[in-house]
Order: sequence, then C-alpha cells, then structure tokens
Amino acid sequence: MTTVSTTDTLIRVLPGETLLEALERTGHDVEYQCRGGYCGSCRLTLVEGEVVYTQEPLAFVGPHEVVPCCCVVKTPIKVECSLRQLETSADDKSQLALDL
Ligand code: FES
Repeated sequence: MTTVSTTDTLIRVLPGETLLEALERTGHDVEYQCRGGYCGSCRLTLVEGEVVYTQEPLAFVGPHEVVPCCCVVKTPIKVECSLRQLETSADDKSQLALDL
C-alpha cells in the first residue's frame, strides 16, 4: 500500500486500485470520461513519484503529467488535485443566515 499527497490531503491507495479510483473514493474533484486512457480528461500534474500504467494511455501525457484512470501508484506520489467542494443548497444558505 502506498500514499498519494494531493493539494489538500494525504490518502492511502488500496491494493489494485487505480489512481483515479483512489482519488474518487477519497472525495477528490477529478474529471473523467472514458476511464480507459483515450480522452485525457482525467490528466493531472504529477509533482513527484512514479506510477505504472496498467494500460498504456492513448491520450497525450506530458513529462510532468499522469493519466490516473489507467495507472496504479508505484511509489508515494504527489499530484495537483483538490477535494470536492461541498455545495450549499439554498435551504442551507437561508439556515446559515438565520444562524448569524
Ligand atoms: S478518463 Fe479518459 S483518459 Fe482518463
């Protein structure tokens, strides 16, 4: 088991889990479409560490980038990816206003 340092936190990757699955499971905001390495929409900046591609991506991958849908984490890595922002509903906002 290894770790991923993101913009907001540090997470553990479960055995067999892709980087995309680990980021989703831990509430990170990561885009995706094909989940197969074709579209490149999940591409992230890889700050440090190494991944292994379980399927070679057809999408362009730059020197400091990673396509998380088709790779597993080889060493502790650091990526630029933030946690999803919680949306506040209109009811919640009015409740917040009442609490003030
Ligand atoms: S979701 Fe399409 S390349 Fe990752």
